[in-house]
Order: sequence, then C-alpha cells, then structure tokens
Amino acid sequence: MSVRTAILRTSSLKAPLSNSVCTRVTSPLTTSQLVRSSSTGTASYFLQNRNFKSVKGTKASWPIITNSALTQQLSRHATTAAKQKADTKQIVSAAANDKRKWVEVMWSDYLGRYPYVWMRDNCRCDECYYPSCHSRSMLMANLDLDVHPKSVEVKEDGHLVEIVWSDGHISPYPSDWLKLQRFDKTDYDPTKKLSKISWGSEFVNEIPTFSFDDVMTKSNALQEWLKGLVEYGLVKITGAPLELGVLNKLCRKVAFERLTCYGHDFRVESLFNASSLAYTSKALGLHVDLPFYGYRPGVQMLHCIKQVESKGGENQFADGKRAAERVLREHPELFDIMTKVKIDFRLIATDYIDVHLQEAQTMIELDENGEFKSLAKNDQVRAPYMNIPVEDVAKVYKAMKVLHDAIYDERNMIDVKLQKGEIMAFDNNRVLHGRSGYTVSMEGGEDSKSRLLEGVFLDWDEIYSRMRLIDEELRGTARL
Ligand code: OGA
Ligand code: ZN
Ligand code: ZN
Repeated sequence: MSVRTAILRTSSLKAPLSNSVCTRVTSPLTTSQLVRSSSTGTASYFLQNRNFKSVKGTKASWPIITNSALTQQLSRHATTAAKQKADTKQIVSAAANDKRKWVEVMWSDYLGRYPYVWMRDNCRCDECYYPSCHSRSMLMANLDLDVHPKSVEVKEDGHLVEIVWSDGHISPYPSDWLKLQRFDKTDYDPTKKLSKISWGSEFVNEIPTFSFDDVMTKSNALQEWLKGLVEYGLVKITGAPLELGVLNKLCRKVAFERLTCYGHDFRVESLFNASSLAYTSKALGLHVDLPFYGYRPGVQMLHCIKQVESKGGENQFADGKRAAERVLREHPELFDIMTKVKIDFRLIATDYIDVHLQEAQTMIELDENGEFKSLAKNDQVRAPYMNIPVEDVAKVYKAMKVLHDAIYDERNMIDVKLQKGEIMAFDNNRVLHGRSGYTVSMEGGEDSKSRLLEGVFLDWDEIYSRMRLIDEELRGTARL
C-alpha cells in the first residue's frame, strides 16, 4: 500500500478525535498511545513522523497524533541539555493586542508577535493541520481575515498557548513550534547560509576531497561533501569500488538519480553510433550537460572505473561563475548579449528513448539580485539554427567567442586526469567540464576498452532536502 493510500485510510481513524480539540489539551495521551506513536525514539517529533512515512503505512503502525501529543512529544524528547535551558522554552505570558491585531508571546529571552490572521491560518489542531505530512488541511476559503481571539491562555506549564477565536474555534500552539515561527530575519535553512565561492586554476590543488566510505557511512561527511558542491561546484571522492552501480548507491544516500534521456545512469565509453559525443573517444569542449532541457539536471557525477594509461582522457573543469565575472569586467557591452540572447540547443538521438529535445537558453543567467545563476555552453549540441535576426549573428558569435575565451583562460581552467576509484561531482548549472580525446585500444575485445566512466545526474531540490534533513538530524531541531 502506498503512503498516500495510508494517509487517506487514517482519516477514518482520525475522525472521532477531531471533535475533541479542546479536551485534548487537558487530557494527555496514555502511555500506550505514546508508545504506539513513537517509532524510533529519535530526538524529535519531526524525525519521528518522517520515519513513519517509511513504514509504508500499515494501519497498526500509523500514528494518531493529537495536538497534546505533539506538545508532549516535543517536550518528552528534549535532550538533557535542552532541559537545562527549559526556561527559554517556557512561555512567560501571552496576550492579544487588538490595536495591532496580533498576539504577543513572551519567553524569557524573546518576545514574539504573531498576527491574528496568521495564527488562525496556522492553527495546529487536527482539524486544521495534518501532522504526518506537516500540511495545512484547513482551506483558505474558511479563513476569515477579520478573525480575532476571544481568549488567549498559556497552558501546560508554559508549553502551550490556546486561543479561543471569535467564531468559537479553539487553537493550540506548542511553545517550541511557535518560537521557531518568529517573524524576524532569522533564516533556519542551512542551505541558505552557504555562498558560492568562485575559483580559478589554483583550485586544482584545493578541490574538496572525501573518502567514499566516509560519505557513504557518516552523515557529517555526506553533509560536508554536499556543502562543498554548493560552495565550489566541484568536489571529489576517492576510494570508490571499481564497478558499475556505485553512483546509484551514492545517489541513494542523497535521494535518487535524475532520470534523463540517457537513463537512470549512463556508461561513458567509446561506442559506434554513439547517442552522445561523450560516448566516443573524441575531445569534448568545455560544456554543461543537457542544455536542451528546459529544466536541466542540477548536478552531474562521473565515476572513473577505467582510465587510459597513456596520454588522453583527461578532464578539464572551469568555473562558469568566475568566467562570467571576468566577462562582465572586461566586456560589459557583450555581457548584455550573453544575458539576453537565447541560443538554441537540441538533441536528436536514440538512447533510453528516442528524443528530439530542444530548448533555447541565454549564455549567462542572472538571479533576481543580478548575481550569476547559471551558464549554458555546449558547442557539441548547440543547434545549427539560430532564432535571431540575421544581422545579429556576427555579434552573437563574438559574444560566444569572448565567453569561450574567458572559460578557457589559463587563469580559470583546471586539468584533472581522473584515477580509478575517483568520483567527480559538479554543479551542472555552473561548472563546465570537458575531456581530451584518447585512443581506444580494444585488442582484448570489449572488456579491454581503455576507458570507462559511469555517470549519473542529480537535482538540487533533492540535494538541498538531504542537507536540511542531515542538519536537523545533527542539531536535533527543525522548523516545522
Ligand atoms: C559526459 C562527459 C566526459 C568524459 O559524459 O557528459 O562530458 O570524461 N564526459 O568522458
Ligand atoms: Zn484548528
Ligand atoms: Zn558532459
């Protein structure tokens, strides 16, 4: 049974409880109920619910979590250290401010102000909120913008605020939860605290490098590896087994592979009738992969299983962010073309399926703050047609060439010959990769091919998700 089905089924179990919103506050769950709703004994209610998801919803194991259970669990699972600081979790007072239409909640170290409409919208009762998926079940249609409290009360020894609203609805708000929803500039997202650090040729000796076993077995190593990927866009792993399928296992540590027209994973080796120039022994100019997708894979990984021993088969990498910064400084008039004119890319090939993919992208994309966001360069799959006025062609080629030169600038590019057991992961929106050509020796037949890499793609949404989960696991708190 799928998790979704399980969620639907529990609504019938849940129904009788939803009428007891107000009594729950004063009638705590019995021990057996708590035991039933405790799957792992891990540090927080939050993780516990996530774990339930993976139980795949057998009826007996699915938790019925009421608001008082939520409050109790939050305090039950507090660590000893947190308990010592219990006073900062205990609400000192809470009161409605009708003039400002907000509720003022005071802790010993923080005064929070929570607008009435926001509080009603975020009621934590189980009519309005479904804890196992942390989702609002109340509909916007039922939200009265003029709602106001009839009473605001602090309960459960300072661990709960209860509001009785003008329409009679009763809302409980656990103290911990409410404190984390503060309307200040605190950003709880660990991925937002990282910034992208641009690099040049010196980076060849500084590529963040991790051991395969560590990344596979230690949360903090996995987190550091992913952080490096966010910050530098290029990270290395050493000591990976010399077999196919390793990247799939690594992907599973993060999330899952991004399926593309090249399948769940792909072998990079020299083939006849190749569906990608990468599957030949030819040199590949520095490029990002798959720019013919409107939503291109965020990260690419290459795992070296066999490498040519003689010259050839080296990889080149360049930081597109650094190249874009240089072009903006040195050729501002062309930068405009790079950020406005769309270049067509396309793939017509047969691989995992038959495809004719096409998309047009600007050479450089900026974010809403005017900062570098992504770069699209791949001369291998740049389309022959250009959807631009014929008079503009020469100027656009000039811009393409200037960007090319900035990327290939020797101050910018690094050369790395991947060794067997090494995995390179790179930000496919930012870091360009290329390859020197090599000679294929097949004297001993297929198995003696001189070079074999395996590749996969991953997406940033899932990477950021894993980073948040690890951060929550290591710190024991989450903003729910
Ligand atoms: C690729 C690619 C480079 C290599 O598979 O996308 O660019 O080293 N491969 O073979
Ligand atoms: Zn409610
Ligand atoms: Zn590539």
